Amino acid sequence: MTTTPFPADLPAATVVAPDWVRHAELLAWVGRIVTLTQPASVVWCDGGEEENTRLCADMVKAGTIRPLNPALRPNSFLACSDPADVARVEDRTFICAATRDLAGPTNNWIAPDEMRTTLRRLFSGCMRGRTLYVVAFSMGPLGSPIAQIGVELTDSPYVVTNMRLMTRMGRKVYDVLGTNGTFVPCMHSVGKPLAEGQADVPWPCNPERYIAHFPETREIWSFGSGYGGNALLGKKCLALRIASAMGRDEGWFAEHMLILAVTSPEGRRYHVGAAFPSACGKTNFAMLIPPKSLAGWTISTIGDDIAWIKPGPDGRLRAINPEAGFFGVAPGTSMRTNENAIRTLAANVLFTNVGYTPEGDVWWEGLTANAPPELVDWTGQAWTPGCGRKAAHPNARFTAPASQCPSIDPAWEDPAGVPLDAMIFGGRRASTTPLVTEARSWEEGVYHAATLGSETTAAATGAQGVVRRDPFAMLPFCGYHMGDYFQHWLSTGTRLAEAGYQLPKMFVVNWFRTDEQGRFLWPGYSDNMRVLAWIVRRLEGTGGGVSHALGVSPRFDDLDWTGLELSAETFGRLVSLDKSAWTAELAAHDLLFDQLGARVPARLRSLRAELGAALGVE
Ligand code: OXD
Ligand code: MN
Repeated sequence: MTTTPFPADLPAATVVAPDWVRHAELLAWVGRIVTLTQPASVVWCDGGEEENTRLCADMVKAGTIRPLNPALRPNSFLACSDPADVARVEDRTFICAATRDLAGPTNNWIAPDEMRTTLRRLFSGCMRGRTLYVVAFSMGPLGSPIAQIGVELTDSPYVVTNMRLMTRMGRKVYDVLGTNGTFVPCMHSVGKPLAEGQADVPWPCNPERYIAHFPETREIWSFGSGYGGNALLGKKCLALRIASAMGRDEGWFAEHMLILAVTSPEGRRYHVGAAFPSACGKTNFAMLIPPKSLAGWTISTIGDDIAWIKPGPDGRLRAINPEAGFFGVAPGTSMRTNENAIRTLAANVLFTNVGYTPEGDVWWEGLTANAPPELVDWTGQAWTPGCGRKAAHPNARFTAPASQCPSIDPAWEDPAGVPLDAMIFGGRRASTTPLVTEARSWEEGVYHAATLGSETTAAATGAQGVVRRDPFAMLPFCGYHMGDYFQHWLSTGTRLAEAGYQLPKMFVVNWFRTDEQGRFLWPGYSDNMRVLAWIVRRLEGTGGGVSHALGVSPRFDDLDWTGLELSAETFGRLVSLDKSAWTAELAAHDLLFDQLGARVPARLRSLRAELGAALGVE
């Protein structure tokens, strides 16, 4: 926060705050927001158990959530949203940088002043009849030098309960904030004021939506949606869009990456950050349980979605998970695909948009091999297996404390972060990209990450199956021009290498190659450990491989196949490079660079030329 938070010109209403709130600027901002939004009351959230119990009881009464059977799922709830409020709204997400060019062509842009005029109109009186909750939160361990504090003002108790799970939230944050600490102002409203005596709906929202970010002044304003990344402003808005701009200015990276630790049978420990577009199985990979046949390997989890990566005093890049919980996609999560996630969900979970069973528990597609004979689906209708509808929305979610994860790493809250040994980038590609490739240099890795493509999933739009370019899996989350972002990666790499830093090695993976019938060629899930084991062996200098146009991939004999039947022929298809597919692929890279324009680093253009020559493709 470099200026007085918007709206600076309004008179501040007098607000009564508990004595542990001692920050004059925050008090004044809340006062101005009260003047603007006209809430019926203000609650300063302490983040405690009692407060949460009270909020949940209120939401049960309002029909927003229902309690699950405590014998099956203690202290857990199910929320079902308005069917028109089920995912992030990328087309309504704006980077209101000073100029359009600073935001870049991949972000929606509206000039800051114009956006503020719109927000002033929308937020005027928008909390009438509702409570304004003040939610102070820390992204990253409390008091850590790399953590950032945000304060979200919201009229959604569902958001408060989620933020309590996803961040370190409440009274303890005020101790760190003190009288003049820096915070990112995060303003949120569902945009549905209540007139005197007007009955509420279970999931208030507004079809007019804006998710607005002001990177220069580090402010976030969100209107109209109560769901996920639109509303839990610490996550995509602060920890990625605003933080990526902070990273550009301050020399670090805010990335859409899980973080895991892998320990080899010899007991050597490595840390890996892995970037995949939304709903490509990041949570599964972060919590992977190695196949029993690969004796001695273990994986532990540090984060499942976001990494803040900063040069450490030890000459390494150090990564922290700024979040405290998992907001994971439920459908497809099962004991087979992600046992650790299922065990994480045993208690204290807030589910959203999954099915509700007659026993008072939850169900979603893929949870069990056989669907329950009947249930209530996420839209509240009676559901049976053959009814033709899904029980859970494809972007249905669970919110659960990370501390409950059986594979959580003992160092997951280490304020210093963990030293990164490798970075993995992956998309969902039916063809083109090999199972795994090691980049031969930082620059080559940046090129592959910059040109990452993936088939779209339900997390963003509900649409499925179209390949879109998703550089670094950051397309919807980069708070500035993507060309500048590429340059930031290249320059930071050069600068740190020159300063003697040991940079992580970079790898590209693709779990999703299919045959002519559309069947996956790679088993995925726990067998991804085989690829990770090869990556570790490459880090150790003992993994074999073959160099090709993209980098280095394993030969069949370089992977450990103990316990898995996969033919050398299938493996050959998994790592093959098809010239005509790559002709189209490179044309798509050109298109991306052309779309991004003059800010694309010249080095990426020359790497493109080198790649074309190596592939024999123009
Ligand atoms: C998420 C996403 O929710 O990437 O993590 O959409
Ligand atoms: Mn994500």
